[in-house]
Amino acid sequence: MLKTLAAGGGMLAMPAAIREVLGAPEPDVEIVLTATKGEAPILSGRATPVWAYRGKVVKGDAGSAQSIPGSYLGPIIRVRKGQRVRLVLENGLGEPTNIHWHGLHVPDDMDGHPRHTAAPGKRYVYEFEIRDRAGTYWFHPHTHGRTGRQIYFGLAGLFLIHDEEEHAAKLPSGEYDVPLILQDRSFDAENRLVFLSDERARQGTRGGMMGGGMMGMMTRMMGFLGERILVNGRPDATLSVATRPYRLRLLNASNARIFKLAWDDGSPLTVVGTDGGLLEAPVQRPYVTLSPGERLELWADFSGHAVGTELTMRSLAFAGDMAMRGGMMGGGMMGMMGMMMGNQELPNGAAFPVFRVRVARSEKAPATPPKRLSNIVRYRPENAVNYRRPRLFNITMGMMEWGINGRSFEMEGVAEDEIVRLNTSEIWEFTNDASMGMMGMMAHPIHIHGLQFQILERSVSPALAEARNSVSAGYVDEGWKDEVFLMPGERAKVLVAFRDFPGLFPYHCHMLEHADTGLMRNYLVRA
Ligand code: C2O
Ligand code: CU
Repeated sequence: MLKTLAAGGGMLAMPAAIREVLGAPEPDVEIVLTATKGEAPILSGRATPVWAYRGKVVKGDAGSAQSIPGSYLGPIIRVRKGQRVRLVLENGLGEPTNIHWHGLHVPDDMDGHPRHTAAPGKRYVYEFEIRDRAGTYWFHPHTHGRTGRQIYFGLAGLFLIHDEEEHAAKLPSGEYDVPLILQDRSFDAENRLVFLSDERARQGTRGGMMGGGMMGMMTRMMGFLGERILVNGRPDATLSVATRPYRLRLLNASNARIFKLAWDDGSPLTVVGTDGGLLEAPVQRPYVTLSPGERLELWADFSGHAVGTELTMRSLAFAGDMAMRGGMMGGGMMGMMGMMMGNQELPNGAAFPVFRVRVARSEKAPATPPKRLSNIVRYRPENAVNYRRPRLFNITMGMMEWGINGRSFEMEGVAEDEIVRLNTSEIWEFTNDASMGMMGMMAHPIHIHGLQFQILERSVSPALAEARNSVSAGYVDEGWKDEVFLMPGERAKVLVAFRDFPGLFPYHCHMLEHADTGLMRNYLVRA
């Protein structure tokens, strides 16, 4: 599907003889991922210029890198727990890039920290053992200030891990295990992707409040919202299914869009997995809330529908950023600015269809979800070294600058209160009630690199409870998470444990424009 314009340099990995001398074990799987510019047919008419990964399995099962039919996204990387993998990034982009393995527990120089990038024409070799449980992880670039742009133009793929426990749960597999990567994009009349203009962003306020300069800068800080919903890189997605259960793996790979997903016939959703793999048992929700970077797995049974039925997965209305800003600012100058910013067509909180399901054929299969999915070992809060004094992380907005505890991102910078000890667990508390800056308040999905955590508790300030309650019935906090989504006025305590790998890891908001403009910090795990 992807037509390549410029190929990356085809270099080989370290020769086996040298590796032997160095004592490095040979990997079970080796995949070369070339980040390259090309074009893909997305809308009718002209092909769209995109940036994409081309995957090539050099060693191991040919299915270790699978392309999604008809999509420029991916490839889907599929590995098993315990395997050693080598992933060679070849940078054919013309600007620095790297890859973050979102959700994976890997050493700090393998994690895709923004300080580790491959220059144009160069490579970065990632090599690690798969230590995480079966689940839906993903990968994407993480170059500071450019992450939003690089993902937007197409660099993103799923990273699926399988293990014995998952196998025993007997979930729908093969063609009944369906990846659904949700993104929002905007196109111009020539079918080109429209993103933030660097020029505008750089001009800052020079254009005046109504001019492009201010608007560009504001969007750059608030988050980019597209007008069209793409699923696996395609508009108007329709899934053709049989009358049986499916495993739907949802990834929100949007820059800043929040989804509140529900079936149009009102039937509840059965959730079987979150960021860090399967839940202990399925849970039901009237709808699910999926913020940028998060994953959810659904067990979706179509056996109750007649062949020929059509269903729609919709994103329902909620109190989005617009409502927040309008409400908070009472339609004053800031409220008005809120109305002008971002996307007037499809603001966060608007209702829209996401994809359709057409029941196309009948097929018999067991139609109850497994009662038991996996075993989750709970961390004990009282074992946390700071049990009585959770480490506090306030999301802040200074003089037009995002931050955490008043500090914004510094490439290698880490503060005293961001240093933790290897082999300890801690309670971290994130608060989103201190960021009442000139933008009003926004929702922030907070992501911690290098580990999976457990969500202990949440609370919301009473004045903002109504807006929070418009999405909170869709939270799935039961399983392993690498992100915690916070609506305005909300706080959450999470239990984190620092194992195996000392080093410097980022934690940040996964609204990509927030992270790119400073809502990111490092934490240091000290041996
Ligand atoms: Cu998916 Cu640091 O991010
Ligand atoms: Cu944010």
